[in-house]
Amino acid sequence: MAKTKESVIRLMTRLAVQHQAVNLSQGFTDEAPHFELVWGGVTAELGGDDEHIEWLEGLTIGDIGDKLGVGPEALGQMPLRDVLARLQNPRDRFNQYSFPFGLPELREAIAAYTERFYGFRPDPDKQITVVLGATEGLSSLLRATCEPGDGLIVFQPFHEMYPAQANIFGLEPRYVTLREDTEAAVWRMDRDEVRAAAAKGARAIILNTPHNPTGKVFDAEDMAFLAELCREHDMWVFTDEIYEHIVYDGGKHQCMAALEGMAERTFVVNSISKTGSATGWRVGWVISPEQHTTAIRAIHDTLVIQAPTPLQKGTARLLNADASVFGDMWELYDRKRQALMAALRQVGFQVSPPEGSYYLFSNYRGVDALKDMSPMDAAMFLIEEVGVASVPGDNFYRVGDEGMNYLRFAFCRSLEQIEEAGQRLQKHLG
Ligand SMILES: Cc1ncc(COP(=O)(O)O)c(C=O)c1O
Repeated sequence: MAKTKESVIRLMTRLAVQHQAVNLSQGFTDEAPHFELVWGGVTAELGGDDEHIEWLEGLTIGDIGDKLGVGPEALGQMPLRDVLARLQNPRDRFNQYSFPFGLPELREAIAAYTERFYGFRPDPDKQITVVLGATEGLSSLLRATCEPGDGLIVFQPFHEMYPAQANIFGLEPRYVTLREDTEAAVWRMDRDEVRAAAAKGARAIILNTPHNPTGKVFDAEDMAFLAELCREHDMWVFTDEIYEHIVYDGGKHQCMAALEGMAERTFVVNSISKTGSATGWRVGWVISPEQHTTAIRAIHDTLVIQAPTPLQKGTARLLNADASVFGDMWELYDRKRQALMAALRQVGFQVSPPEGSYYLFSNYRGVDALKDMSPMDAAMFLIEEVGVASVPGDNFYRVGDEGMNYLRFAFCRSLEQIEEAGQRLQKHLG
């Protein structure tokens, strides 16, 4: 087995910090997570049990004064920390171990959320496992369902965890290359290439849509083709849907498990990392066909036991939130998408507008200062000389040299940060 290496994306973040560059390398924001999450987490940590949480929910500032036996003036002088300390429940359930495969209320919330958006309701007791983000979800899933030597169809460019995890579990990726059609300004899947990969034998396809790094959103025809191929070759689909609510220009994300005849061969991997702007919370879930759930839960339990209990409480609150929380999400990113696209194009990058997710995978060969550099040299030049961190494109490919022309920029940071990056690019490369 090849040695497992450190993530290049996370390395670029460290270099960004070292060089005080605007960090457009790793896909996490510098803006606050959704308040439903935060409030749900805080009340679970302080409240300790459902009764005390309900009490905290209804508490006014005036009630606090009465409860602590202090008048408004004295209360006004008390540090918030002391007030909160005195509201903490001395009894506790929610900072402790809970069911390894997820709190019942969170699994319920995941089932209802899935039904709300995709029209099918997975069974919370038999099909849902709460995990530590999509990363652990995929790894528990791969270990539970595949055997060393099994083939796995992976689209490249890819999220680096797919080949890295396949390597850890001795699986054999069969790479299929998505290609940029610069005239139509879209990324396309070559069906013949997918057919050829399937013909070599594969247990499953990993399908990430909306896609990182290209922004491709697999459309109804792509999905129908892949579903048909899976039925024909008796393959599973392992989806990675963490950008499900970030789709632009009136497009719509489709869940493979909702397609006719695909529920029994689709494993959905999802998390609140992107939807809740909470990449550090490490809460996600896997929806699996019933007969595989026990194996997935057993691996998950053995490796990590469970996702943090109080953060599961917060996650349930977010997933139960009003539909507008999810429906309006794309608009925020759309403004950033437009700003960064304009800034990159101004200095010579070629960019096909992403249809979804929050990355620009952009060809830098038209940028005078970068055009003769390798992707790593170009990325280092941008960090050290320009003050903008990106990720070298070849990091997202394993076969061929098509990644050699690209850099990936994440546009999930605050608009001010993106504008700052634009100004730096213009100043040094314009
Ligand atoms: C496509 C894709 N999958 C998975 C992850 C990691 O997800 P999580 O934080 O839920 O483990 C990322 C993070 O950027 C990603 O882009």
